[in-house]
Formats: sequence, structure tokens, C-alpha cells
Amino acid sequence: MSLKNRVARALLSTEAQTSWLGPLLRSTIQATNGLYRYSPEFKLATQAVDRPHYSWCMMRAAELGKMLGHQRISAIEFGVAGGNGLAYMCDYADEVKRATGVDVVCYGFDTGEGMPPPEGSADLPYWFAEKQYVMDVDAIKAQVPNGKIILGNIRDSIDGFLEEYSPPPIGAIFNDTDYWSSTRESFRLFDHCENRPEHFLPRQFMYFDDIIGTEIEMYGTYNGQLRAIEEFNSSQNNVKIQRNQNLLNKTQYKWRFQIYYAHLFLHSDYDKYIGGARQEAMQDLLKLKA
Ligand SMILES: C[S@@+](CC[C@H](N)C(=O)[O-])C[C@H]1O[C@@H](n2cnc3c(N)ncnc32)[C@H](O)[C@@H]1O
Repeated sequence: MSLKNRVARALLSTEAQTSWLGPLLRSTIQATNGLYRYSPEFKLATQAVDRPHYSWCMMRAAELGKMLGHQRISAIEFGVAGGNGLAYMCDYADEVKRATGVDVVCYGFDTGEGMPPPEGSADLPYWFAEKQYVMDVDAIKAQVPNGKIILGNIRDSIDGFLEEYSPPPIGAIFNDTDYWSSTRESFRLFDHCENRPEHFLPRQFMYFDDIIGTEIEMYGTYNGQLRAIEEFNSSQNNVKIQRNQNLLNKTQYKWRFQIYYAHLFLHSDYDKYIGGARQEAMQDLLKLKA
């Protein structure tokens, strides 16, 4: 193995990333990126990116889209506020394009006027309040011209979204609307996945911001986003949102508990085979050794 590969392997190891070396490693890679032009996959694997959770979902959604024959996909952020998340998505879309050849169109939903009034205790009014996180819409539009911002309460804006914007298949959804009620309304996007499958990948990469929190929030399945997920899953059988399993042993990813997958079981591409080279490699590995 070449010295370069040895160094790369050491940097990618869980031990390096979880030790005191981790932050140093990440900032060094970011600072020297102009010089060495590291691959998007290397930067993602070492988490030398500002929002690794957003990056991971966007990259994996693009890969899934590509496997299913799409050249363009969409990523959505519910809850834009200052706009840093949407700005990051639009920047990272260039990295995704470089790695996969897939374009990612980025959308952000927000009232534009900060948090709406809470609907009740499940919205945690002891922590969130009306008018928190007001947006500067003009500033965001000027700074993030590629981000498509859908203004208004999600309750009202979600229904016309597919018709008005005709987004390429949605594959990554970042939910940062804080409230149980707003998260619940965002899930109404899935009401349309059966009659408009062209706007969805059959499986979604999702990130929920407000499910871990602190001892002040005390999130649980009786309030906030976790409650919205539970209620959504028990209200129907066609779409289920579940915490991922495959990242749970990757202790270097602090955000791993916040990544969920949505399965759109009735989507016309749900069963389309994507095993390809990975399954072939697996079968080769399992062949009886001579
Ligand atoms: C914590 S902030 C989002 C932060 C942003 N994602 C970031 O990473 O910088 C929450 C945002 O959700 C928005 N929001 C909450 N409920 C909403 C609803 N029902 N409709 C539209 N926007 C909503 C609020 O206006 C607020 O700007």
C-alpha cells in the first residue's frame, strides 16, 4: 500500500476521527483543500465539511437517484431561518455534482416571519415561541440565488408545492421546524407520492434536528418531532419513517441518531433492483474458497 493510501486510511479510521485528532484533522483538510483538491467522498468520510449530516444525506440521495436513472434530484429544508442551511445545501450541491454527476435542486420552506404560534404543549411552548428565528428574506435571496424559497406556513404551502415547482425527484429532507405541529404538516408532502411519483425517490434520506436536544427540551415521543413521526407512522401504512440502522455503529458520526429513512412503499420504483456491482462483489466474497 502506498504511503498516500496509508495516510488516507489512518485519517478515515474511527479512532482518528473520535480522538482529539478529529477536529484538527477536519480543519487541516478544509484549510488545505484549495491546494490538494480532496475528493468529495474523502471530505465526507472524514467529515471535513461544515454540515456532515446534510452532506451525507444529499450525497447518498444523489447516488440513489443515479442508480434509479435520474440526473437531477431535489433536497428540501423545512425551516430556513437565517438561511445558513439552505446556503450550505446550494454550495454542497456542487460537490455532489462533482462526485456523482447528479444535479441537486434545493428548496427551503419557511414562514419568513419566524415561528408561528404553537398549537399546544406538544410544540414545547416552554422552549419555542412565536416569532423566533425571523428570516431576512431579501438577504437570503441575494446571497443564495439558487435556493428556492417557499414562503408561508407549511400548512398552507405544502399542497401546491409539487404543482407549482415541479421539483425533480425529492431524495433528501432536512426537518428543522422545531414544532410537533409543523413537522406533522411537512409530512403531508407524502400525501402526493403515489399520484405524483415522478417527484420522489422511493426512499428518502431525512434528518431531524429537534429530537435529541438538552435537559431543557426533554424531547420524547409525546412531544415535538418524535411525536410527529410516531403519529405519522401509525396513521397509515403506505409510507413509514424510521431511524436508520446502518450508521448506528459509526460512532464518529455524532449526528447518526438523527438520520431517518422514509420508505414510500407504493412508489412505482420502490422494488426496482439496485444491487448491481455491490451485490456481485458480495456474491464473489461468499463463494466457497478452494
Ligand atoms: C430553528 S429554525 C431553522 C434553522 C435552519 N434550519 C438552520 O439550520 O439555520 C426554525 C424555522 O422553522 C420555521 N417554521 C416553524 N414552523 C413553521 C411552519 N409551520 N411553517 C413554516 N415555517 C415554519 C420558523 O419560521 C423558523 O425559521
